[in-house]
Amino acid sequence: MQEPTPSEQAPVQTPFEWIGGEDRVKALTERFYDLMDLEPAYTELRAAHGSDLDQARQKLFWFLCGWLGGPNYYTDQFGHPRLRMRHMPFAIGIQERDQWVACMDQAMTETGVDDTLRTRLRESFFGTADWMRNKGI
Ligand code: HEM
Repeated sequence: MQEPTPSEQAPVQTPFEWIGGEDRVKALTERFYDLMDLEPAYTELRAAHGSDLDQARQKLFWFLCGWLGGPNYYTDQFGHPRLRMRHMPFAIGIQERDQWVACMDQAMTETGVDDTLRTRLRESFFGTADWMRNKGI
């Protein structure tokens, strides 16, 4: 069998395009923080945040757009994310890590992120969240 010519191959898609663009990233971020606020399973994660989640909602949306290969809203405004350094004021252990990833996975499921993409993103989120741990347990 002949190799397909470049024009016959599927176009390379960024995760940002795969997820469905900015509106879908917005829906995901909103659901993520709504679930954090609502679900008893994420109580410790919620407690690691301040009383108001508005700033976190806005910044995670900007960050995720760029992280997924879309517009660089976050870095254009704040420069390099330096996420580990920026999370130092918050106590992040295994429980917070696991709740963050579970909350994001639930939000991805509920907002209809494709299963293959969701599995890949969950692995990447886990790596990032694990690297952010700054307390023993
Ligand atoms: C592992 C558990 C995590 C905890 C407990 C946590 C907690 C927090 C808190 C308390 C804030 C500050 C919100 C505010 O400014 O009001 C924050 C900001 C933020 N978080 Fe997390 N986070 C976690 C994981 C993550 C992960 C995995 C990502 C990215 C994949 C992420 C991305 C961000 C971003 C982009 C901001 C805004 C940073 C800024 O101030 O510019 N966080 N997080």
